[in-house]
Amino acid sequence: MQRLPAAFALTFALLLASPTWAAEEEPDLELGEKINMTCAGCHGENGQGKPNGEYPRLAGMDARYLAAQLRDFKSRKRLNIPMFPYTTERELPEEDIRAVAAYLASIRLKSRMPPVNENTFDALERLKLSRRILNIPRYPGDLVKGKRFYRKECSNCHGRDGRGKHTRKNFIPMLAGQHSAYLLRQISLIRAGKRFHDEPDDDELFSAYSDEEFSDMLAYLSILDDE
Ligand code: HEC
Ligand code: HEC
Repeated sequence: MQRLPAAFALTFALLLASPTWAAEEEPDLELGEKINMTCAGCHGENGQGKPNGEYPRLAGMDARYLAAQLRDFKSRKRLNIPMFPYTTERELPEEDIRAVAAYLASIRLKSRMPPVNENTFDALERLKLSRRILNIPRYPGDLVKGKRFYRKECSNCHGRDGRGKHTRKNFIPMLAGQHSAYLLRQISLIRAGKRFHDEPDDDELFSAYSDEEFSDMLAYLSILDDE
């Protein structure tokens, strides 16, 4: 710091001291963890969701995607009746959206338990670890056809590995590692024109694909997180 020109050092110090800068650049993970206690009742304490697909996995998803969805729930661009009371401006102001999204994005779930090491075996540690495991069970369907369909129609945006990505226009969620039943429900909502996808007429595009194409694709997605 001593060698920095004084003006630069002063700007730097002011930036560090400025609460707006801190809030913009560094979401508060501790605050996010606290807020997540409300979310945990439905989404699980580690954002792992429910296998029956009622509540999606949130752990490890892109923070900007999570935040964008929370804003969409708040504005009702995306209708989510069970969650609406939790997303009002009073319950979840913008700062809290960014904090909880960053916290959830930081949670790493593994897809399987590491082998037991008898020398260092610790029952409590293993119990804790087991709560951070999520492996999507193999979904029934044809893997070869599913892979072909996914690679042709979806992987451009959702990524070859199904991990999602973001473009300048929007944040594209991961599909691999997400509960199959939840994905299937979103697909039905997109087809029915009740969930926004990427383009306004994606309801027609999705309606043109068959149920079988989607189940084969879900089968393929369900093995992508098995590594
Ligand atoms: C009362 C139960 C409930 C609570 C509490 C709840 N959620 Fe949800 N959440 C849901 C349901 C149900 C869905 C799926 C809606 C659908 O099928 O479209 C959902 C979906 C989401 C999604 C969309 C995920 C995706 O892949 O698009 C996000 C993000 C989310 N919740 C974040 C949160 C956060 C953050 C909190 C805490 C502030 C929270 N939820 C609290 C029920 C809940
Ligand atoms: C041109 C880019 C693009 C393509 C191609 C694309 N998607 Fe998407 N998809 C998106 C975007 C963007 C979103 C997020 C929409 C939002 O903000 O709510 C999304 C969201 C989804 C969701 C909701 C996930 C969640 O967590 O709620 C599902 C399911 C989905 N896409 C399935 C598919 C399938 C299946 C295909 C191939 C048939 C496909 N998508 C092709 C851009 C794309």
